[in-house]
Amino acid sequence: MSMNLKVNLKVNGKNYELEVPAHERLVDTLRYRLGLVSVKEGCGRGECGTCIVLVNGLPRHSCLTLTSTLDGAEVTTLEGLAPEGKLHAIQVAFIETRGVQCGFCTPGFIMMTKALLDSNPEPSQEEVKEWLSSVLCRCGSYHYYFAAAKLAGKYIKEGKIYFDEKQVREKYHMKVVGR
Ligand code: FES
Ligand code: FES
Repeated sequence: MSMNLKVNLKVNGKNYELEVPAHERLVDTLRYRLGLVSVKEGCGRGECGTCIVLVNGLPRHSCLTLTSTLDGAEVTTLEGLAPEGKLHAIQVAFIETRGVQCGFCTPGFIMMTKALLDSNPEPSQEEVKEWLSSVLCRCGSYHYYFAAAKLAGKYIKEGKIYFDEKQVREKYHMKVVGR
């Protein structure tokens, strides 16, 4: 019989009191309990990085993390990067460098870029490559994502952290097809 455990989590700035089975993975809690669909499972065994989120500011494979071990932790997913109606500079940089193809890997790359730029605001090309090589892009968009990380760093350095979502969508002809 599976035992439920109480876990207090702050996810994207919002507090949750959850009761989860001891074996429930963070990827499932975020995606299926909380509806945060940016969090995707690829390999399910710590190899592809698609499921990476930030736990207390550091990147973590949500497929390898048990939610029950995170009582009191702060979790950030792609949905929590910018306030309502805004896009974070990293999101905008990923749009502008046009590397996104199927997009399955993109949340993992963006969260790794966030962790990188938080710890090292001006990474070298080599540092960007090394850091982002922990995520697998099946479409081969690495070159574009490396450029996106550099561009995001430039925006942040210039103090451009958030962009108006509506303006970005209009500029790049992007429609919302689902949240
Ligand atoms: S789904 Fe977690 S690393 Fe692949
Ligand atoms: S854009 Fe398709 S897996 Fe990376």
